[in-house]
Amino acid sequence: MDVVIVKNYIEMSKYAAGLVGECIKERDQPVIGLATGGTPIGMYQLLVRQYRAGLLSFKHVRTFNLDEYIGLEPAHAKSYHRYMQEHLFSHVDIPPDQTFLPDGIAHNLRMECRRYEKLLKKIGPPDLQILGIGENGHIGFNEPGSDLDSGTHVVRLAASTRKANARYFQSLENVPTHAITMGVKSILRSKKIVLLASGDRKAEAVRRLLEGNPDPDFPASALYQHPNVTLIADEKAFYS
Ligand code: GLP
Repeated sequence: MDVVIVKNYIEMSKYAAGLVGECIKERDQPVIGLATGGTPIGMYQLLVRQYRAGLLSFKHVRTFNLDEYIGLEPAHAKSYHRYMQEHLFSHVDIPPDQTFLPDGIAHNLRMECRRYEKLLKKIGPPDLQILGIGENGHIGFNEPGSDLDSGTHVVRLAASTRKANARYFQSLENVPTHAITMGVKSILRSKKIVLLASGDRKAEAVRRLLEGNPDPDFPASALYQHPNVTLIADEKAFYS
């Protein structure tokens, strides 16, 4: 795992946006794996800025998101569908039918997981997968103790994750209890992985990650199985 330490959130966002921009420019039909949460918002803002400046086009890009909450309509203010519209898709020239997210309101969730995994195999794997990290070491919504050998699946969110994400909702009760997530196995198929970590809230997770011990109770440790992972951490996430 390569480790890049940058000064702050802005520098982390610039570095990540640079890697995404490069990947898009180098390929005719790039496939990018996208993450949600607070961490990649700055990266998305910079990508939108590059698009507006005429430096980048998303016309031929296909995107796969890691996860979606179960039970939230795509238009729901806190769904990841809506997040992607607000932070990236509605601001750039990506055709809507080239953006893929799991459907959190599918009637048959098991079939939806299978559909998504198949699509990932057919169109993907991503040339570049962006990841954040949960304070408990989750990637996507692969929670501690989950099967690290799984494809897209339904998960029950850990109490700690619901608590951490309550800041995005009106209250803890409003945070969904379940989600669909790409599995660790699906994530590891990506050609390159970039893991972002910013702020002292992530320092403990970064410290544990860099111990390098494979540990099913710390899903991000599975990234050591992949030959091309770069962690971009800001000073607060690295030194706190
Ligand atoms: C969320 C997402 C993850 C994200 C992580 C960290 O719940 N499912 O993909 O990386 O938790 O979120 P944040 O960046 O808001 O700290």
